[in-house]
Amino acid sequence: MTERLTPEEMKEIASRFAGLMRLLTHDGEAERPAELRDLLIDRLRDALDRRLPSMGNGEAGFIGNSFLVEAVIHSNTRTVVTRMRHRDLGSWHVMKTLSAHHVNDAMARTILLREARVGMALRHPNLMAVECSFRLPDGCPAIIMEWAGASLSQRLSMRSVSVADIRQVMTSLLRGLHSMHTAGYVHGDISAANLLICDDDFERLKIADFGSAIEAGKRYRDLDVAKAATPGFAAPELASDKAADPRSDLYSAGCVMKLLLEHCHQAHDPNPLTDISTRLADPDVSRRPLNAMAALELFERK
Ligand SMILES: Nc1ncnc2c1ncn2[C@@H]1O[C@H](COP(=O)(O)OP(=O)(O)O)[C@@H](O)[C@H]1O
Ligand SMILES: [Mg+2]
Repeated sequence: MTERLTPEEMKEIASRFAGLMRLLTHDGEAERPAELRDLLIDRLRDALDRRLPSMGNGEAGFIGNSFLVEAVIHSNTRTVVTRMRHRDLGSWHVMKTLSAHHVNDAMARTILLREARVGMALRHPNLMAVECSFRLPDGCPAIIMEWAGASLSQRLSMRSVSVADIRQVMTSLLRGLHSMHTAGYVHGDISAANLLICDDDFERLKIADFGSAIEAGKRYRDLDVAKAATPGFAAPELASDKAADPRSDLYSAGCVMKLLLEHCHQAHDPNPLTDISTRLADPDVSRRPLNAMAALELFERK
């Protein structure tokens, strides 16, 4: 790479870098306090990582004096999702909190705390790890999660998938669901926006957004959480107020699979996987596979 630069250009870059480092670590002849020096270097590294045109003059935004706020990656009327970097560990995280309009909304606070509680009770490589819950200085509840990459809907808007990809997505999704169902919960809102893919590796797919998770056998009307399934993915029985059944998640998984097949560059007619998606997304609950493990077996046979 350096061969494209003349020795003079390289020398100038090296000399300016040395000058910049001196400025970050020294105030005139005096060495800056270690904490300030680390903070400035942290901000420089962050600006370089994100290819920012400048470091900015404003104060860096820190949460809990530990997480450097990078960007808001999603917001809707109720929630705000922010990407952050831990200043000491260098790891990436995501904070989900309430929008300014809902800071004092008791229902929204309860849902977020419930999401934290459910998320922290679950641990599986295909389930989003909720790391902690805390209050922001204004009292608003927030949860911190591992950073898990782009959503499946974002991924599909960029590139198509292969048959092998579809198998891997469905295997990861059904493994995550099996773990959640075994722990006694129904997710209630499986959709392409609630599945996250780290580094384009479908084996590391993670089910996110436990905001509408419900204990199997309970009804939404008995709980303080609202039913919030995504149109196009929600099982028909969710329209009535039946007791939550894990097979509603299998229906949504079938809808995810249909979407994947629409984005498959290898799709041929009839695609053997089409039968499985139809079985999963059967409007009649009793005709769907009994559970996530039984659904996984369908893939082993095809
Ligand atoms: N842990 C995470 N890692 C990466 N992106 C995330 C994470 N959590 C949420 N997101 C992004 O934010 C979006 C909304 O998050 P979600 O929890 O589903 O919020 P909502 O309850 O508003 O639907 C997701 O579709 C995803 O793009
Ligand atoms: Mg969501």
